[in-house]
Amino acid sequence: MPWNSTPVNRLALKLPHITTTYQFISVGLVIICILVFSTTSLHNTRVVERLKDSAKGRICDHDRLVFGNPTISDSFQSLFQAIRHPVSAPTYTDAYGKVFDTKKDGPWWKEPLRNEILILDIDTRVPQGKNELWNDGRLNWEAMKEEGDGGLVSASFMNHFLYAQIHGYDYRFFNAHDMEGLHNTWVKPHVLFDLLHSYRFVIFIDADATIQHLELPFEWLFNKWGITPQTSIALPLDSRQTINGDEHVSEDSKGRLQLNTGVVVAQALPYTFEMLKAWKECPEEKRYPGCALWKEEWSHEQRAFSEYIRYDFNPTGTNIIEIPCDDAVGYPGLAEHEHINSNCTGQFIRHHTIDKAMTKRSTEVAMLQVLTDLTRKELLSKKETYWIRET
Ligand SMILES: *[C@@H]1O[C@H](CO)[C@@H](O)[C@H](O)[C@H]1NC(C)=O
Repeated sequence: MPWNSTPVNRLALKLPHITTTYQFISVGLVIICILVFSTTSLHNTRVVERLKDSAKGRICDHDRLVFGNPTISDSFQSLFQAIRHPVSAPTYTDAYGKVFDTKKDGPWWKEPLRNEILILDIDTRVPQGKNELWNDGRLNWEAMKEEGDGGLVSASFMNHFLYAQIHGYDYRFFNAHDMEGLHNTWVKPHVLFDLLHSYRFVIFIDADATIQHLELPFEWLFNKWGITPQTSIALPLDSRQTINGDEHVSEDSKGRLQLNTGVVVAQALPYTFEMLKAWKECPEEKRYPGCALWKEEWSHEQRAFSEYIRYDFNPTGTNIIEIPCDDAVGYPGLAEHEHINSNCTGQFIRHHTIDKAMTKRSTEVAMLQVLTDLTRKELLSKKETYWIRET
């Protein structure tokens, strides 16, 4: 479904399949939905607003008809309504009480973008072995291995999928093939280029990275990071490290800190497609002589972006946004490794590059925190009911 198709179009597509009375009634409701969604000219009247809100939740659920029991997806979205952070809120306070501000010249995003955003996993590994995510058997969380690919990928993909479900984002796991003559992470710009044709935003997250605040919408992070409607790509600045005595290993050849492709936010703009094309074709050396070096040599597509693309495709300074390292690289404890020179703790997205086995724990913490918030919200809001005071 293209991201710009309206709810009305989607409903209209369903009209030709009418045979029974039941479906006749459905059509009635479809028409109500269409009317509800097409009353933009009456937008300001409170009655219409209220009617829209109630119809959205009960009959149409934003863009679908709902009969009988709500789906798991619908239930996730309505359950988390109670704690979802507002997109345009000026601040966010995490469970430690740390307060984060959005940029002063925003907010650029005020409404949820829902399924105009794709949360994307790309991997050659498929976690479908025993006790792994895509295996048909029941997943025993406690017994799931934290060491090794299967458990790692199972945990992080579940984290990404759950996050997408909570916010109504679309989700895809792109099971990539190895690429001939190229390190397999080179697939990233290719898949981003292809899938961005169907969405407004595609957000790629590495398999060893987890979203820590499941109730916090990505649109809020756009407002924090300065991702405007004109921004093409955003990715975090890497942590500084020393490898084999080389303190400049995290820099490009001009001495500038590299960007880390563990998280890539791409917005569907004509300029973005030009940028992605230049990036994916970089090793062909038509535009960038020397780029073929990074076909198999670390850090591959990441180095190519930092070495060439970011210098050529950022005329306004906001076409490419550099996300602060502390927000989307590293995790608590990363800086305790001797060769790591910057203390990036993954405040919003933890990237467990060195301690991959921590991915399972970060997934747990994120899930438990929102379940804790939800449970306590209910408990405390009806304290007089749940708590009997002995007299
Ligand atoms: C990194 O920062 C955190 C707080 O943000 C602090 O608790 C920790 O001790 C720091 N680690 C190092 C190695 O500086």
